[in-house]
Amino acid sequence: MADPVFLITGASSGIGAATARHASQAGYRLVLAARSTDRLEALAEELGGSERAIAVTCDVTDFAAQEAMVAATLDAFGRLDVAFANAGFGAKRGFLEGDPEQWRAMVLTNVLGAAYTIRATIPALKDSVGHLLLTSSVAGRRALSGSLYGATKHAVTAMAESVRQDLNDTGVRVTSIEPGMTDTPFFDDRPSNALESDDIARAVLFAVQQPPHVDVNEILIRPVSQPI
Ligand SMILES: NC(=O)c1ccc[n+]([C@@H]2O[C@H](COP(=O)([O-])OP(=O)(O)OC[C@H]3O[C@@H](n4cnc5c(N)ncnc54)[C@H](OP(=O)(O)O)[C@@H]3O)[C@@H](O)[C@H]2O)c1
Repeated sequence: MADPVFLITGASSGIGAATARHASQAGYRLVLAARSTDRLEALAEELGGSERAIAVTCDVTDFAAQEAMVAATLDAFGRLDVAFANAGFGAKRGFLEGDPEQWRAMVLTNVLGAAYTIRATIPALKDSVGHLLLTSSVAGRRALSGSLYGATKHAVTAMAESVRQDLNDTGVRVTSIEPGMTDTPFFDDRPSNALESDDIARAVLFAVQQPPHVDVNEILIRPVSQPI
């Protein structure tokens, strides 16, 4: 059988890029999606070029772009085994802080973007009896003061469980990845005493490498001593 195919949204940076590197090491062919074409192309080249990894420019808030991403996947590799809905970003905490237009973009990206990825990838994942993962957050399991971002991640946690039930009879597995503070460009001021992207990538690979009858539904992972 040809090597399995792993699609990642938000693959141009941070957790998504680290997961791409770990998945490549594990023998997957990669589909790397985000808006930053140059960064995706550099990563695809690093991971072995077009036989092993393709770059697909995709704004996850655009459903047609997500459908085109899946079409490009099937065109290049003929199958899709793992889809990781990981694209997302945060906003300043406090309901009187930040820009309401940025809230709009964040809600559309983190919530609708993930739903669009689910919808666009389900048919191919059913065909391969594959695996769907979504990046939620510790903020999707605990309410944080003044955090609309946390509300978007609670929606992602709920979506992971609702799609798990929806796909229950298909054999497709569903995992919610719930990172604590992780040192990535997500933060303008990079945190210390945080997890590394590689720590989250290992958790993702742990979930996908279980035997087919094992469905790891949630992984909540904090750096030691994160209080909330
Ligand atoms: N870092 C943390 O502490 C932490 C903790 C819990 C959860 N998370 C979640 O982890 C995920 C990855 O974040 P990260 O920490 O790795 O941050 P990051 O390095 O900033 O990566 C975010 C990724 O999302 C992509 N993205 C943003 N908007 C997009 C859009 N509209 N369409 C397509 N791609 C888009 C970005 O690519 P382009 O800009 O190229 O499009 C980038 O590849 C996010 O869902 C985040 O909420 C992060």
